[in-house]
Amino acid sequence: MQKIIRTRAEAADFAASVRFSGKTMGFVPTMGALHEGHLSLVRKALQENDYCVTSIFVNPIQFNNREDLEKYPRTPERDLQMLEEAGCQAVFMPSVDEMYPEEVNEHYDFGHLDKVMEGAFRPGHFNGVAIVVKRLFEIIQPHKAYFGEKDYQQLAIIRELVRRYQIPVKIVACPIVREDDGLAMSSRNMRLSAEDRRKAPQIYQTLLTARQLAKEHDVAFVKNWVLETLKSIEGFEPEYFEIASGETLLPVNHWDEADTVMGFVVVWLGGVRLIDNIELRRK
Ligand code: PAF
Repeated sequence: MQKIIRTRAEAADFAASVRFSGKTMGFVPTMGALHEGHLSLVRKALQENDYCVTSIFVNPIQFNNREDLEKYPRTPERDLQMLEEAGCQAVFMPSVDEMYPEEVNEHYDFGHLDKVMEGAFRPGHFNGVAIVVKRLFEIIQPHKAYFGEKDYQQLAIIRELVRRYQIPVKIVACPIVREDDGLAMSSRNMRLSAEDRRKAPQIYQTLLTARQLAKEHDVAFVKNWVLETLKSIEGFEPEYFEIASGETLLPVNHWDEADTVMGFVVVWLGGVRLIDNIELRRK
């Protein structure tokens, strides 16, 4: 039977008992509405540690849009069942008051890392992510924490957070998990209408073609082709497509400007914001 933890004090007791017994703990932070992508993180955490703790907390301060927060899917019973079946031993499900007993006024600045792409289109988002992840690390005190590469920029920011504040946790990046038709798994996918769900895999198909085009065309051509292709698909509203360094996340103008060049995309479809990325070229 998995342990459900609701308060910081209980979480601290749990962390202390795991560490006291000389065992290791892997941590998977989530906002719930779990899918196979989250479960892949839980499985990896269980392979590499004695214990896995998953948190389920829809973090209000990382939503820059009220409607997005209200519509964010919440499926706690199903989540607990999935975690139990995956063998996750403990789930931290705090209330908003438990996480934020006082007014929050921390401000992080990660330089260009939180200014480009998601940082530019979702003001305040990464500040909210950094605040909650730092608090979660302090509460859970895991040895390792697992994050998906779908939120590639978030991963870069969390690595920087850990480096800057010397938080004693190892960050483990895990590959994007896709549906059979290529759509990157996301909690938001459950908000797509049946018709939009059928269209959504065209995001990844476009990225795959971009990777082919990147072998023979320059950066400007590929960028323009992807944006025009996405715009031409009925219902698709691309928010951005950026070709950037996988290391610094800064935009590149030439393929040889970075060891790994990635394509990062966000498309709105039927009021749902879908994010994806792909490695376009590697030196
Ligand atoms: O990736 C997410 O689900 C969230 O941003 C995270 C890391 C759980 C913080 O709320």
